[in-house]
Amino acid sequence: MKTINVVELFAGVGGFRLGLERYNKNLWNFIFANQWEPNKKVQHAFNCYVNNFGPENVNNEDIAIAKEKIPNNVDLLVGGFPCQDYSVAATKAKGIEGKKGVLWWEISWILKHKKPKMVLLENVDRLLKSPSAKRGRDFAIMLFNLNKLGYDVEWQVINAADYGMPQRRKRVFIFAKLRECFETAVMFDDEQTLEEINESSVFSTVFPVVEKSSTKVKQMEFSSQFDDELDITENYNGGKFLTKGFLINGDLLEYEIEVDPNFNPERLCLRDILQNPDEIEEKFYLNQEQLKKMKELRSAKKRERFKPNGEPYYYSEGRMNLLDNLDRPGRTMLTSESSLNRSTHLIQTLDKNGRNRRRFITPIEAERLNCFDDDWTVSITSEKMRYFCMGNALVVDIIQNLADQIERVYDELIVNLKINQNNIKTCDLEEYDV
Ligand SMILES: C[S@@+](CC[C@H](N)C(=O)[O-])C[C@H]1O[C@@H](n2cnc3c(N)ncnc32)[C@H](O)[C@@H]1O
Repeated sequence: MKTINVVELFAGVGGFRLGLERYNKNLWNFIFANQWEPNKKVQHAFNCYVNNFGPENVNNEDIAIAKEKIPNNVDLLVGGFPCQDYSVAATKAKGIEGKKGVLWWEISWILKHKKPKMVLLENVDRLLKSPSAKRGRDFAIMLFNLNKLGYDVEWQVINAADYGMPQRRKRVFIFAKLRECFETAVMFDDEQTLEEINESSVFSTVFPVVEKSSTKVKQMEFSSQFDDELDITENYNGGKFLTKGFLINGDLLEYEIEVDPNFNPERLCLRDILQNPDEIEEKFYLNQEQLKKMKELRSAKKRERFKPNGEPYYYSEGRMNLLDNLDRPGRTMLTSESSLNRSTHLIQTLDKNGRNRRRFITPIEAERLNCFDDDWTVSITSEKMRYFCMGNALVVDIIQNLADQIERVYDELIVNLKINQNNIKTCDLEEYDV
């Protein structure tokens, strides 16, 4: 029977695993999962993961330590990691070195030493234009690094709500294949239409897109322009990356996308994921003080603030509707959902006595916004942490839909590759220090 060995990094409460297992529980063998919340005594997300999937092969250490324990025969590595500054520095003793604590360099180490054949990563879409002082540099470093490690890459920004899911959550998904394990890929040629390119894409096969009419396709040699990660860190000036792209054999093709207007799923809205009024505890309804505070938070503001050098500047925020529209998908859920802030969801619905009242969303509704099962996080005794974990998680149905494509790619694997004594597919990569 076919099984795909999976490693889940930065596993949180297991959104990737749940999505893959919903597609086909028997297809995947989770050989290692890692989740560790830095500087926290109680490991809520880890405990929740174990509660749902059991303790087998689940690790609760800093990935910087745990990475050595990852088995060698990884077919698929998945994970949602934080968007950080990926720049590198050169030190006399060690050559190029990534900054300590920067999680990309842990992933990079794992790719180099464990050589997963396929990789699926998720991040905020801001990654494509970070940092603000040098737009696109961080993603450029990451792409360069992936190419150097032998991977071809594809990415696409996906807003879950555009494809029928109940939350407007826009994330960039990145899929990479280890070149040596697959038929030699070629960059698309001029004859190919974007429609044909989209059809061969892991992402747009499931999440269909069209090219945004106002932008041009960019195609160029990319990796050969730079000597190493340090060169990119210091000299990249290509600007932000577009919302869909490919890096094949170090050459780049990218374009700005829109959702295919012919794609017409049944759309879920906030109203569709609400619990029955009988199930809503009184504490979720707003009192006068909370209402006053929410009105103030969502009003337009202009405030004087000061730069580190003491220079004043004005910070302004526009007015937001007090109530979230029940007939649209929910706004992006943040880790701060449990606290009273501008982004907290606030809805008006009938209570169990038929009265129209304003309330916050419940932990179950937070789970439903991300397409998790009801009470997925019920083992987390702190309600605040249930919302926090959902703010960190992804929309599970995205992964469930992509699973079919991952299986398709896996089926293209060249099976008779050389295997070395550590059971790793061999790969002639240049040694490097990062
Ligand atoms: C964006 S969340 C991923 C959430 C996950 N996809 C889910 O569905 O719940 C990133 C996770 O990485 C974890 N993390 C942060 N630093 C870590 C480290 N050094 N080692 C291991 N995990 C870490 C965080 O605790 C958080 O749960």
